Amino acid sequence: MAKRIDVKDLNAYYGGFKAVEDVTMTVEPRSVTAFIGPSGCGKSTFLRTLNRMHEVIPGARVEGSIRLDDRDLYGGEVDPVAVRRTVGMVFQRPNPFPTMSIFDNVAAGLKLNGVKNKARVSEVVEKSLRAANLWTEVKDRLAKPGAGLSGGQQQRLCIARAIAVEPQVLLMDEPCSALDPISTLAIEDLISQLKSRYTIVIVTHNMQQAARVSDRTAFFNLAATGKPGRLIEIGDTTKIFSNPVERATEDYISGRFG
Ligand SMILES: Nc1ncnc2c1ncn2[C@@H]1O[C@H](COP(=O)(O)OP(=O)(O)OP(=O)(O)O)[C@@H](O)[C@H]1O
Ligand SMILES: [Mg+2]
Repeated sequence: MAKRIDVKDLNAYYGGFKAVEDVTMTVEPRSVTAFIGPSGCGKSTFLRTLNRMHEVIPGARVEGSIRLDDRDLYGGEVDPVAVRRTVGMVFQRPNPFPTMSIFDNVAAGLKLNGVKNKARVSEVVEKSLRAANLWTEVKDRLAKPGAGLSGGQQQRLCIARAIAVEPQVLLMDEPCSALDPISTLAIEDLISQLKSRYTIVIVTHNMQQAARVSDRTAFFNLAATGKPGRLIEIGDTTKIFSNPVERATEDYISGRFG
């Protein structure tokens, strides 16, 4: 089941440096939310706070609250590893386990979760690869290494790996930035299909992509280098791109930024 994310008064730090300040927003389930904004405004940092990946960096910490439906992600009893299973992540550069086979790449998370039944694992691997639009391209070479796939195929493999463990939220940090236009469209199609089942957040520098794939868009900005990034506005994508409330948003989306 897709989940709603409720963020309240969130600050994210790297040691003494506050990278993200005072973010309050709701990410709706079964929809795609795009994060846009200039480099360094904290999009990736904020994204990583949503599955507790931020705190794996030494000295990094978070203030404020994030709720997944009614559960506090940062509650004392919450296991961050379990959070990362519920809130999956796909990174900017496809990062398949290079020496592992295509099959094992997708099965890796299941095995960590203790699924041992071979027939069950095969079934989930096929289902995930089909969902990631990759099955027909790889079904005859499942035992070959993941590193032997093209960039776009590797990114879809990473998406298959992320969805194999059935997360409820899928976070994607610039998943198409290393891809050609055809692979990019394949990933965008995939995102549109997946949103009926998942809550999806995508960071993108590509305005057209944000306009194409997302239902809601959040614009982040920073006042100056060294200042924390802030959420300037969030709203329906059509509204943000046609009639944003804030001048800074309009300047950014129309390329008049800076
Ligand atoms: N591991 C880290 N240690 C210290 N500072 C960091 C770390 N990662 C990011 N930062 C700083 O936090 C701020 C926000 O960075 P972040 O990567 O979140 O920005 P971004 O919006 O994702 O940028 P881009 O569009 O270039 O990916 C920047 O000033 C960056 O230098
Ligand atoms: Mg980033």
